[in-house]
Amino acid sequence: MHPDLIAERFTLRPLREADASAITAACQDPEILKWCMGVPLNYTEETARNYISLTRAAGEQGTELVWGIDASGKLAGIVTLHEIEGPFAELGFWAHPESRGQGLLTEALRVMIGFAFDPQGLGFDALGWTAIYGNDASRHVAEKLGFSDIEFVENGTAGRPDAASAPTRLDAWRATMTRQQWLEKNFRVS
Ligand SMILES: CC(C)(COP(=O)(O)OP(=O)(O)OC[C@H]1O[C@@H](n2cnc3c(N)ncnc32)[C@H](O)[C@@H]1OP(=O)(O)O)[C@@H](O)C(=O)NCCC(=O)NCCS
Repeated sequence: MHPDLIAERFTLRPLREADASAITAACQDPEILKWCMGVPLNYTEETARNYISLTRAAGEQGTELVWGIDASGKLAGIVTLHEIEGPFAELGFWAHPESRGQGLLTEALRVMIGFAFDPQGLGFDALGWTAIYGNDASRHVAEKLGFSDIEFVENGTAGRPDAASAPTRLDAWRATMTRQQWLEKNFRVS
């Protein structure tokens, strides 16, 4: 289930081929390359086109759901639910450098998380957030969304797969939020 999710300032929608140039431009950004290990180095439009078709296949299979943040026709970033396993998934996100600092990413994550927890949406029980240790912007966003009890996990996340022949591990911050915690944080119900 991968519907468009409509908010006041943007629509979350599956990626399209026409997003390739905006994704390619965003994926030159040093911050995205530093903190998002799934984003390959030397990113080209072909990388973006392959990624877009992978996201379509994954969306159909329900293994990963990727939404583009379409703000009046401009791709402001992406938000994802990946490592979907039963009623659990991990969050992923990045903002296009030109669209940062407007609260769009936090709001887009709120919309996606609402859909993930909604019994009429995906009906998930819990969501995970993992960031490379030191990614203060990501941590700030996670805390605003309601993730708490953030743990430090030594070697807690995978490094960039193409950076070395042997798999690398990096220190991480990680937290989990249940549906109940989300409701308490965002709707003040008990
Ligand atoms: C993390 C990221 C998506 C945030 O995008 P953004 O457009 O700044 O997000 P928003 O505008 O919704 O809000 C960001 C909040 O974090 C704060 N913030 C931004 N940079 C920060 C930093 N370096 N340290 C601490 N807080 C920071 C902002 O002040 C804002 O908080 P506020 O609303 O309380 O003022 C963006 O920096 C990014 O794309 N980074 C590279 C990719 C990445 O790290 N993805 C996450 C991987 S786990």
